[in-house]
Amino acid sequence: MKIPEKKFSITTPIYYVNDVPHIGHAYTTIAADVIARYKRLSGYKVFFLTGTDEHGQKVLQAARDLGIEPQEHVDQLHNRFKELWTRLNISNDDFIRTTEKRHQTLVSDILQQLYDRKEIYKDSYEGWYCTPDERFWTEKDLVNGNCPECKRKVEKIQEHNYFFKMGQYQDWLKKHIKSNDKFIQPTSRRNEVLGFLEKPLGDLCISRPKERLPWGIPLPFDEGYVTYVWFDALINYISAHGPLEKIGSTGFWPVNHHLLGKDILTTHAVYWSTMLKAIGFDPALNLFAHGWWTINGHKMSKSVGNTVEPNLLVDQFGVDAIRYFLLREVPFGLDGDFSHKALIGRINSDLANNLGNLLNRTMSMIKRYHDQMIPEPKSLDEDTDLKNEFQMGIEAVEKLYDELAYSKILERIWLLVDATNKYIDTNSPWNLMKSESGKQRLATVMYNTAECIRSISILIYPFMPKSAETIMEQLGIENSIEEQGLESLKTWGGIKSGGEIQPGLQLFPRIADEDAEKILNSIESPNDKDQKPSSHTEIEGICDQVLIDDFMKIDLRTGKIIEAEKIKKSKKLLKLKVDIGAEVRQVVAGIAECYEPDQLINRTIILVSNLKPVKLMGIESQGMLLAANNNGQVVLAGFDPKPSQGIRVR
Ligand code: MSP
Repeated sequence: MKIPEKKFSITTPIYYVNDVPHIGHAYTTIAADVIARYKRLSGYKVFFLTGTDEHGQKVLQAARDLGIEPQEHVDQLHNRFKELWTRLNISNDDFIRTTEKRHQTLVSDILQQLYDRKEIYKDSYEGWYCTPDERFWTEKDLVNGNCPECKRKVEKIQEHNYFFKMGQYQDWLKKHIKSNDKFIQPTSRRNEVLGFLEKPLGDLCISRPKERLPWGIPLPFDEGYVTYVWFDALINYISAHGPLEKIGSTGFWPVNHHLLGKDILTTHAVYWSTMLKAIGFDPALNLFAHGWWTINGHKMSKSVGNTVEPNLLVDQFGVDAIRYFLLREVPFGLDGDFSHKALIGRINSDLANNLGNLLNRTMSMIKRYHDQMIPEPKSLDEDTDLKNEFQMGIEAVEKLYDELAYSKILERIWLLVDATNKYIDTNSPWNLMKSESGKQRLATVMYNTAECIRSISILIYPFMPKSAETIMEQLGIENSIEEQGLESLKTWGGIKSGGEIQPGLQLFPRIADEDAEKILNSIESPNDKDQKPSSHTEIEGICDQVLIDDFMKIDLRTGKIIEAEKIKKSKKLLKLKVDIGAEVRQVVAGIAECYEPDQLINRTIILVSNLKPVKLMGIESQGMLLAANNNGQVVLAGFDPKPSQGIRVR
């Protein structure tokens, strides 16, 4: 009889492409990746979905700010997410974009079905609208007259719109939450949703008039409207699976875990669950709302300039250290403050001292005492305490995965690292070496140590896939970790005697104190420097100090504009040719509202000459002009008298 395949599915939110990804986005995605990898190790066929949310006001606004078409903007920016996921070793099975045809078609089909079944109706509506959050609020929802979520200003709007009859599902939803303990986690968040449902649940406005918001999926039954971005975005979780009739038979629905930040729990618990109910699908099995990373106690935001750029962290500390730190430092579900100092601390203690040293000392002892070969143990029956400790540890880890208790899982694995280090110390191989009887015991001790490290590397694989594979290579094991699987941990002795180890470089080099100091001095967060916030961080608009070395990385050059022309369909952009001495650069500059092309010819400007080229309205821009924005009036930086072209500006 064919054993049915075990299937498992997990999702992240789809991220808005109004900005480049930051550490908060990376957090949810890494968390989902760990579960996906763990389930694959346990023999499941996994469907791990992530993607980008490409419609709505925020995205349209971001494109307008750049003076480019929204489609061009999303085509460029979604790649920043894809590239980051590759760097972070994210093993997603699909990446969905809400501007893709497969998604738009399903959204349209669902809208039409719900409309035909009278689950959607048209009504006139007056409410308070929060543009950044793209949500309507009633008078009583407002806090001090502002949006209850983001505390920003709201505006009163009256218009005709379409509504989904969400309110009719209120009793069903309350009952569903109450009778399914695991549906919303953590419990505190579950209680918040139940509290929210104590107030009458209204119907959901699911349209936006096209004249106010042209960027969205058109309603199939009224061309004057586009779909509300949340109604559109939530459907990504099923549109990745194909047409409606196929979804039920994929084996991946209902989803096992929707991972999300606490900020978007209501939209998932209330909007999405009732939408699914209306469409005829079961709700997801679990919604897990994790906490937020702050920087020095403040929300990360581009306008404040305090976001933590994951690519920079990877360059500086390596991908696995970042993956480890984010999930070890703060219990999933709670908020945490990001600190480089804490990150360096974890790298040096948990990774370099504990795990790294264990591997190094084991490698060097096997090299020295056993000619680089995994020895034959005298007997597999010795050291039952150690083996029991591993069995108990593995079982505990498996249980902790059910609760998504990442930091406890890592804590538990590190107890096994400690136990192995202790086993070495207690048995002191360096003493066993000294006598013939000791040498027989030595073989058993080194064999068991190598087997412990093999187990540890399988256990850390979901969190640190690259490091785990490197450990396997050093142990001389050819089978990949996924081939070995969790099953191989159930019986002692998976590592084969006689295999040749391949000692390599230090897996996690210690960050020396002086290097740590340099790193901490070069970053802005006062948190990391153990200082009180410097007063200038409180003066709005003035950025934190940088070191001269950082400033010198920016290559500013004098240049002469030799050609300038307008760009079709763009009010803001001009295409320029700038002579910087050694070469002529093409630059797209957002100055068309303040300068006529003719006015610019022969003008000497300052060009940021080592910026990575970008495409704006399909035209490559190879630099950026320096200018001041004087209340919307852009004034180019220049010189009097004029220097020649190509001179470095400092
Ligand atoms: N597009 C919507 C989600 C639609 S899902 C159908 C959205 N996008 S978002 O880009 O603004 O943020 C999505 C998620 O990113 C958050 O819910 C959270 O998972 C993660 N984070 C964004 N900033 C974060 C922190 N500062 N800290 C931790 N996670 C955060 O909302």
